[in-house]
Amino acid sequence: MSNNIFLSGGKIADVGSKINVLSLFDGISCGQVALEKAGIEVDKYFASEIDKHAIKVTQANYPNTIQIGDVTKVKANDLPNINLLIGGSPCQGFSFSGKQLNFVDPRSKLFFEFVRLIKEVKPKYWLLENVVMKQEYQDVISQHLGVEPVKLNSDLTSAQNRVRLYWANFEITEPNNQGIKLEDVLEDTEMIGPSAIRGRRLNKATILGRRLDERGKRQDYDKTVPITQCLEVRATNRDKSNCLTTVAKNTVLTTMSIGRHPDAFNKKLPYRNYTKIERCRLMNLPDNYCNEISLNQTVKATGNGWEVGMITHLFNCLIRQRAREEKNIITDYMHEPSIKTGT
Ligand SMILES: C[S@@+](CC[C@H](N)C(=O)[O-])C[C@H]1O[C@@H](n2cnc3c(N)ncnc32)[C@H](O)[C@@H]1O
Repeated sequence: MSNNIFLSGGKIADVGSKINVLSLFDGISCGQVALEKAGIEVDKYFASEIDKHAIKVTQANYPNTIQIGDVTKVKANDLPNINLLIGGSPCQGFSFSGKQLNFVDPRSKLFFEFVRLIKEVKPKYWLLENVVMKQEYQDVISQHLGVEPVKLNSDLTSAQNRVRLYWANFEITEPNNQGIKLEDVLEDTEMIGPSAIRGRRLNKATILGRRLDERGKRQDYDKTVPITQCLEVRATNRDKSNCLTTVAKNTVLTTMSIGRHPDAFNKKLPYRNYTKIERCRLMNLPDNYCNEISLNQTVKATGNGWEVGMITHLFNCLIRQRAREEKNIITDYMHEPSIKTGT
C-alpha cells in the first residue's frame, strides 16, 4: 500500500506525487528498505556514500539509486526539490567505545554537513540518527538542529539491543514491542570448523583481550600476566542479541557457561559468529540483502547500519504527522468564508 498523502508538500494539489529523498552517509541504504516497508513511494533517491562495498550492496538491491559520492561535495543547487533528508553520520568520535574525540574527529565532524544541507536543501522533513553519546556532545547536535533527540532501543522492533538517538522535525513515538526473539532469527545450521555448534539455545558472548589469572579473574594492571583473547559470557537476556558492531567477535554465540574463559582461540573454545543471513535478520533486512559482499564486509556494513524495523516505525510516524497536517490544511480551507457560505 502506498502512502501518497505524505507527498503533498503542504499543497493539496500535489497529493499523489512521489517524493525525492536525499540520504547522507547512506551506507547500505537501510533507509531505502524502510521507506519501501512503510509504503512511501520514492521518485528519486540520492545517496551520498563513499564506501565501495556499501555502494555495491545498495546498487544490487536498489539499482535506481543515484549515488552522489562524498557528502562534502554535495551541493543543493545540483539537486531537485528534496522532500526528505535522512542520515546517520559516522559516530566513531562520539561512541563510548571510540576515543571520544567528538567534533575534533574528522569523521564525527561530518555531522556539520548534515546541518549545512538542511539549510541549503530546505527539506520538508528530516531525520538524523546517531549513537548514544556523552550529554555534552548530544547537546551540541541538539543546539544545531533545534530539537532534542528521542532515545529508542531496537529491541522493540528486532531481536537486537540497539539503542540509538533520533532527531527529527516530526513527532516520534515509541513503537510497540514486536516480541522478536534471538532464537527466531538464528539459522539452524552447523558451523563448519572446530567451533561448530548446532542448535539455538546458546549463550551470548564477546571475545576480547584480557589479562586473566588462572582463576579467570581480571588482572588489568599486572603487566606480567599476558593478554589473551578471552571468551566472556555475561548473564544477559538471551532473547535479544547484543548490539551488532563492525567487529564480529563482539557478538558471538557459545555453549560455554556464564563467566570468563581465557585463550578462546588457542583452546578452540566452542563459539560461533553470526552468519551473514543472521546479521541481516538482526537488522530486519532481507536474508539475501548482502549477497554481493563478503562476510567481513557484511559485518562492517550491518554494524554501521540502521535497524530497519525501527526506521520503518519512524517513517510511519512521519506518515501520521503528514496526515494530521493534511487534515489541518483541509479544515482551514473548509473554514475559508467563501467555502463555508458557498459564495
Ligand atoms: C554510521 S554509517 C551509516 C550507515 C547507514 N545509515 C546504513 O543504514 O547503512 C556512516 C557512513 O558514512 C559513510 N561516510 C564516511 N565519510 C563519508 C563522506 N565523506 N561522504 C559520504 N559518506 C561518508 C561511511 O562509509 C558509512 O557508511
